[in-house]
Amino acid sequence: MQSSFQQGVVCGLMLLVLYEVSAPGVAGAQATEDRTDPDARARATERQMTDEERLGMIISIMGTNPILPVRDKRIPKGATMSAGYTPGVRRLGVPALQMTDASLGVTNPGYRPKDRGATALPASIVIGASFNPALAREGGMVLGREARIRGLNVVLGGGVNLQRDPRNGRNFEYYSEDPLLTAALGAEAVNGAQGEGVISTLKHYTLNCNETNRHWLDAIIDPAAHRESDLLAFQIAIERSQPGAIMSGYNLINGEAAGGNYHLLTEVLKGAWGYKGWVMSDWGATPSWEFAVKGLDQESGVQIDQRMWQVEPFGEPLREALADGKLPRERLSDMVRRILRSMYAVGIDKWGPAPKVDMAKHNEVALEAARQGIVLLKNEGALPLAADVKNIAVIGGHALVGVPTGTGSSAVLPVGGHANIIRLGGPGIMGELRNLYLLPSSPVEELKKLLPNATIEFDSGMSPGEAALLARRSDVAIVFGIRTEGEGFDLPDLELPWGQNATIAAVAAANPNTIVVLETGNPVSMPWRDNVKAILEAWYPGQAGGTAIAEVLTGKMNPSGRLPMTFPADLSQTPRPELAGLGTPWGTPTTLRYDEGAEVGYRWYAQKGLTPLYAFGHGLSYTSFAYSDLQVSGGETVKATFTVTNTGDRAGADVPQLYLVSAGDETRMRLLGFERVELEPGASKQVTVTADPRLLARFDNDARQWRLAGGSYRVALGKAADELLLTADATLTERAFGK
Ligand code: BGC
Repeated sequence: MQSSFQQGVVCGLMLLVLYEVSAPGVAGAQATEDRTDPDARARATERQMTDEERLGMIISIMGTNPILPVRDKRIPKGATMSAGYTPGVRRLGVPALQMTDASLGVTNPGYRPKDRGATALPASIVIGASFNPALAREGGMVLGREARIRGLNVVLGGGVNLQRDPRNGRNFEYYSEDPLLTAALGAEAVNGAQGEGVISTLKHYTLNCNETNRHWLDAIIDPAAHRESDLLAFQIAIERSQPGAIMSGYNLINGEAAGGNYHLLTEVLKGAWGYKGWVMSDWGATPSWEFAVKGLDQESGVQIDQRMWQVEPFGEPLREALADGKLPRERLSDMVRRILRSMYAVGIDKWGPAPKVDMAKHNEVALEAARQGIVLLKNEGALPLAADVKNIAVIGGHALVGVPTGTGSSAVLPVGGHANIIRLGGPGIMGELRNLYLLPSSPVEELKKLLPNATIEFDSGMSPGEAALLARRSDVAIVFGIRTEGEGFDLPDLELPWGQNATIAAVAAANPNTIVVLETGNPVSMPWRDNVKAILEAWYPGQAGGTAIAEVLTGKMNPSGRLPMTFPADLSQTPRPELAGLGTPWGTPTTLRYDEGAEVGYRWYAQKGLTPLYAFGHGLSYTSFAYSDLQVSGGETVKATFTVTNTGDRAGADVPQLYLVSAGDETRMRLLGFERVELEPGASKQVTVTADPRLLARFDNDARQWRLAGGSYRVALGKAADELLLTADATLTERAFGK
């Protein structure tokens, strides 16, 4: 049995604290050395610090919130706080760290009376579906600016775990199943935030790909395969964005806790990759001071560790270890220098006046992201809706009220509050906090605005029979299918809950022009697929989601999203038809084998010759595109050029995708590059893709190097992983490279 506190731990981190707005303390003397080199400055500052000051910097303290209502005395009155507060050193001009969750917007769950809400961006999976790094950057800028005006200087964003399992409750917080796509988007989210002078994390390092018993989940993977998949996503994202901090996961990897994993933290991240920032733990994931020796630099949310593990490991235990010589003094200095270095590199010590934030502009970012991330999965001529359509039935999904979001630490309180919060409850750890959150962007109202001459009627969809009555007398029926997914729990299956499949089936039987709009954070099964005319996947589309959905339905926007994740025909196709530990009580040690190794998602389907329901990269448009002139060169890597032409009669965006399909005789599928291309009707664009050679190579774990075998490599240009249109061969030169 877990205590009620333990229950709080899992979810508490998402509720957290809302704090007064003030700038971090940056008064006092500055370190004297080189003013521009963050390493030199960090060395100089750290040298002048006392041990008390050093020990203060290697923890973060959670602020007051309903779970921790009494302010920890280490947090000064009036400090701007959130998920974590780390004292600064005034006399040396070192600012306090003030951290906030901010994957999909600055979180503000309601305890900060003066906070008027933040922009609720679409979920990261929506950005994944846009295949548009520029959009990720815009989102990062929104996070950075909205954090900054609240005095928050660290955003806990950048979820770059791969979507390995369609039951993972947190997939909506991650970008995709592919390392390159994930890295390209995660890096730009970090660049956007850090460009605003706010430190961003990438998280959760690493293989935190399921939520079941996450503190006790041992994720087993072949080390070389790990380097070619989840670790490669981190590696590329780190190279492209230099995030100030990396947050380690809750889980274990091959028997060692993520936050105390010497190999992954010290040998790989800081050693092979030369990462210069700091590693913070996830909240309540540091049971032992010895994690410091293994490579963890900062213990996060110390009160949670105290309650979880009955110890504050980087407090007294670490102090004693230092006194006994068990923790080398140089290691403590390194921990502190890494934090200082990121402060200086990103510039949180040099904040001027807070920027002006234009919330209307931020809403535009949220809207544009939703527009670009909605995926048209199927269309048999039903969409866009005819301009003169007379009677539309909209059914289900609380579409009268708003759009759903995922739950957990990433949940954002939007400006003006939620449209509704329906308490769901449930057994066990997360039961208390399972809510259906609806953001105030009603698809019904937005449709009415765009189709003022149509009669649009709504039915809740609670009763399949009632829904069918309305559908029968309408020209078109649009049924919404939603699901609540979130942090702390995995999904049992791929089904839409609450009898929604029965409602969709009844509506489809009553009206041949049935369109389904899904708002989910993961693939779902679609037993009614052949009986409906069109299917849209709108995910958790954020505060402007209703507008974006209405625009796509009416054709005001031409859909351009592509699936960042394979939709399986059923769970038997996936690497783990049974999910280890699912349904066992919280605290049950669980071993989860990622035997698919690097063959995640579409790579797995290609290797096994499986046909999914919808493939990675799939997404339809209201126009059509053709590819031509594929030219490929080899040598050190593959370079490809090709031409994309809009062959239809309306403007639209396409996402041509270049894949490796085989290396010699071996089937090996890897996304090598992609570009979102906007084209007017009849227009063409030439695209060049230069592959990162690590996507063509294998990782040699003994030599700790990438190894490219010489020979012939086949690449294909396609619209999706299962729709490859042009192929070409390149000859690559044998070589070993990188780390
Ligand atoms: C989550 C992290 C989050 C942290 C702080 C944890 O529960 O796993 O992603 O940043 O809480 O709220």
